[in-house]
Amino acid sequence: MRINIAIDGYSSCGKSTMARELARELGYTFIDSGAMYRAITLYFLRHKVALDDATAVAAALSNIQLRFERTPGREQSHICLNGEDVSEEIREMHVAGQVSAVAAIPAVRHFAVAQQQEIGREKGVVMDGRDIGTVVFPDAALKIFVTADIQVRVQRRYEELRAKEPGITMEEVRANLEARDHIDTTRAESPLRRAADAVLLDNSRLSREQQLMLVLSWAREKTGIQ
Ligand code: CDP
Ligand code: CDP
Repeated sequence: MRINIAIDGYSSCGKSTMARELARELGYTFIDSGAMYRAITLYFLRHKVALDDATAVAAALSNIQLRFERTPGREQSHICLNGEDVSEEIREMHVAGQVSAVAAIPAVRHFAVAQQQEIGREKGVVMDGRDIGTVVFPDAALKIFVTADIQVRVQRRYEELRAKEPGITMEEVRANLEARDHIDTTRAESPLRRAADAVLLDNSRLSREQQLMLVLSWAREKTGIQ
């Protein structure tokens, strides 16, 4: 049986890594919903869209086309914003600094959620984000809520970013994670919440391999496929 799998949780705790590896093992499609909010944010930054101007936000959204593309032989898919591969740029700190404010705008969420639900219609999707188990796929057969100690999360994200942004400090990374978690959990529109039927996973002391084995066993239980 093909199912949808919803993975939610705080920033930088390993959701996308888990979702990508799980999808690969199951032969499912992996969707990083955060990449969609980051790409929308990049568009808003480039076009200087005022976040409190509903008309400007609506006009900007009507000009945005998002698509996930896969290159044969490469595991990672890229996200294209109006045909341009922006996978690298959306990871930069100037986008991370604004994305939670953009993602708190109801019109932005409706725009993204409609596309995410369309992608999940045929099942066989592993999607990670903040509202996947609560809003996007409330009927997902498997929901996982991931967390990890803040220091572990800061260290993981710092290791990733410093290769590309050498001047970055741990303090900056920590401030960004804490600010985003605060906005994401307190916004009025679909805040980050653990769905009542989500399994809680604290992966502070789990390696990528260990967490994959664990979630794969949960997925196999649900799909009935060994
Ligand atoms: O990977 P990281 O934890 O840095 O974040 P992400 O998954 O790339 O998501 C970036 C931001 O997009 C989050 O901090 C949220 O503000 C927003 N987001 C959201 O609101 N809902 C989602 N389903 C996914 C992301
Ligand atoms: O999607 P999210 O922001 O939750 O996190 P991610 O981008 O998947 O993972 C952040 C970093 O943590 C990546 O470099 C992963 O390789 C690393 N990670 C880890 O070291 N151990 C884990 N158990 C999970 C993720």
